[in-house]
Amino acid sequence: MNESNDSHPQSGPTPTSAEVTRRRFLEKVSVALGGVCAAMLGVPVVGFVIAPLFRKMKDRWISVGNTSEFEIGRTVNVPFPDPSPLPWAGITAKGAAWLRQDSSGQFTAFSVNCTHMGCPVRWLPDADLFMCPCHGGVYYQDGTVAAGPPPKPLVRFEVRVANDQVEIKAAAIPITTTL
Ligand code: FES
Repeated sequence: MNESNDSHPQSGPTPTSAEVTRRRFLEKVSVALGGVCAAMLGVPVVGFVIAPLFRKMKDRWISVGNTSEFEIGRTVNVPFPDPSPLPWAGITAKGAAWLRQDSSGQFTAFSVNCTHMGCPVRWLPDADLFMCPCHGGVYYQDGTVAAGPPPKPLVRFEVRVANDQVEIKAAAIPITTTL
């Protein structure tokens, strides 16, 4: 009976130190080449995705209707396209403002986005207040904070009248957060 064969299974010849060194070297080369390939594929994709975030947005005057469409003292919602939509923005590329003709030819426009976390605020004509449904933020009709967590008044857009058209100077959606 040969005990040495049972207790020592066949495992092939032991590699020399030169072979071990070569294997380790080839492993490192493989890992390095894998990293280079991943970078070559990944950097352009990441760049494509985040580049629009760093692009400076141009201000744009956008017509939201004829002056005759707006009753003096009435606050109405006017939709307009986001002037700098990101490729993946989808429905969020649609902007809007609350617009009021204070007196003949004099308009005020507020962003619809709450300054807390950006939820769209609603105008409650009976109460003369803007109300945010998300966390109970409340704003007076001049956009200043009446109650709740909003840290700042509603953002105002510049408004002008050109050729009887009411135009809003659209800008990136101004959202702040207290998180
Ligand atoms: S988002 Fe309006 S109160 Fe929080």
